[in-house]
Amino acid sequence: MDHKRSWMLGLGILVFGLAQSVDAADLKKVIEMPDASKILEKDRLAPPKRYTMPKGCITDDPLAIARGEYIFHNLNGKKAKAKPPRGLAKFVVANGRKKPKQYGNCVACHNIEGAKGGGNIGPDLHNYRQNFVDSGVRSHQYVYQQIADPRVHDKNTHMTVNLTTGLFTPREICDIASYVVSDKSKK
Ligand code: HEC
Repeated sequence: MDHKRSWMLGLGILVFGLAQSVDAADLKKVIEMPDASKILEKDRLAPPKRYTMPKGCITDDPLAIARGEYIFHNLNGKKAKAKPPRGLAKFVVANGRKKPKQYGNCVACHNIEGAKGGGNIGPDLHNYRQNFVDSGVRSHQYVYQQIADPRVHDKNTHMTVNLTTGLFTPREICDIASYVVSDKSKK
């Protein structure tokens, strides 16, 4: 390649490069770039929150335990087949629209008494009362916090956050916790 040709080639590359950077700048002007950070902010989880278990939360009331059991083993009110126990809806009205009530689907990750296709992402919760509560390894407060917001116990948890996200009310967390720690040995 003689001098003149390589000089021309160099100039060509330079012009091409300039044209490209102009293009990139122009694109920002022409195409509306939404500020995605605002949109994503809305979906971001609130920081981990520590809760104090409400008074009388965990109970031996069979109806509370039945509601907890129903939430544990079902995904939502549309998929759930059996009739829910008293005090638990299958559908809720939000913004004037009826939609299936979201349940816990805890069984997707945990095995437990009577589970159909229990998952193994989380620990097996069989005999939870005998193994962990009666033995003093886990307090009721611990179980309540774990279900409400497990990130307080492990910031990298793979478990769902149920109270901080507003998925459940404190009463419903109590129902679920009552089921987890209930005596299932006679079932
Ligand atoms: C996506 C998977 C997943 C789902 C869904 C899930 N968990 Fe968990 N769970 C875990 C994992 C993983 C752990 C182990 C500890 C941790 O990572 O927080 C755990 C731990 C627990 C523990 C503590 C066990 C102990 O004493 O250390 C309890 C109790 C529990 N889960 C109950 C529930 C209940 C009730 C639900 C439904 C509302 C539920 N989990 C839904 C994954 C899950």
